[in-house]
Amino acid sequence: MPTAQASAIGTRHRVKIADVAFGGDGVARLDDGRVAFVPLVGLGEEVTIEIVAARKNFLHAKLVSIEVPSPDRVQPPCVVYGRCGGCAYQHLSYPAQLALKERQLAATLRRVGHLTAEDAPVRPIVASPREFEYRNRITVHLANGAAGFHAAGSNKLVEIARCEIAEPAVNEALAALAANRRRKREDGHRTLRADRTRRFFHQANDFAAAELMRVVSELVGAGGASLVDAYCGAGWFIKELRGRFAQCLGLEWDRYAVEEARKDALDHERYLEGDVALLLPEALANVSKTDTTLILDPPAEGLAAAVSDEISHAQPQRVIYVSCHPATLARDLARLKRGGYKIEHVTPVDMFPQTAEIEAVAFLTAR
Ligand SMILES: C[S@@+](CC[C@H](N)C(=O)[O-])C[C@H]1O[C@@H](n2cnc3c(N)ncnc32)[C@H](O)[C@@H]1O
Repeated sequence: MPTAQASAIGTRHRVKIADVAFGGDGVARLDDGRVAFVPLVGLGEEVTIEIVAARKNFLHAKLVSIEVPSPDRVQPPCVVYGRCGGCAYQHLSYPAQLALKERQLAATLRRVGHLTAEDAPVRPIVASPREFEYRNRITVHLANGAAGFHAAGSNKLVEIARCEIAEPAVNEALAALAANRRRKREDGHRTLRADRTRRFFHQANDFAAAELMRVVSELVGAGGASLVDAYCGAGWFIKELRGRFAQCLGLEWDRYAVEEARKDALDHERYLEGDVALLLPEALANVSKTDTTLILDPPAEGLAAAVSDEISHAQPQRVIYVSCHPATLARDLARLKRGGYKIEHVTPVDMFPQTAEIEAVAFLTAR
């Protein structure tokens, strides 16, 4: 006997999209109260969906037809949009994408971190100056002579001739790869870069990165005694801000990034190679608690518990947390709030238009 959930597979329903969740799926409630997630829809849209998979507490559906379209709906420029898993919002106008991301960030702070709008005020999202042709690198998968991205929700290859969100130089590299018949013997993946000399982390959208830097720079203001930049890469923040601090210290475990950062380091600028969790206690013990700015720019996993514990213990005055994952940001902000910090505000910056990704800058001060 199939369960009630499984028996829903294949059934069609006309629904109204009540929300669009982080990740890009629309959320709809069926007449019997069950919740279904469906991609490629807009907020408030009325659509017919077909259930394609059942989980214990919710259903997955595909879009069959649009009954009452959202006024935000636009024609996606990409020919593989909807099949390729890279983009989630090409069917929505850019202002609508921005509004969704702002809403999703606030919702994630509330749901994961139990942080209300008062605990963690979300400021208006900062748009990317470019909506398309912004990525300075893409990683394509190679299989059986084809290059492409994985399909949404699977690792099936969707072959691409160009990527609408990649910079022209990256698309030229993609065309060259496609023209090179030797790739036919090659499986795996390949990163194509606008600037091939970079061997270490670099922000993937230079245009939005300039906006991110502007937000961080405004928060840093006049600077002060010490800047500690944890997860510093090649020192991108320090290079911009070093003139405002008496001493700067970068922490990073990628040897190539540290080598690069040290190349043009000034006398008051140092870099330590290693795990932030191990280096941070000594770094914070050697700076003035009341006149230190700590920048955190961790990968999507966010901060190890030991790192947020150490910050709560050492209490550097100002913390600027640059996050590329709302759920880990929410968890870490909740920990830092319990550790004695006030979350002044959180500013989303749209680093990846057309995709579901959300980047944000949180500003915290020791109470
Ligand atoms: C999101 S990038 C930020 C880099 C830099 N802030 C920038 O904008 O160019 C995160 C960096 O943290 C480094 N990283 C990740 N986990 C780390 C850890 N536990 N300890 C030290 N560095 C780490 C990565 O190598 C990467 O360079």
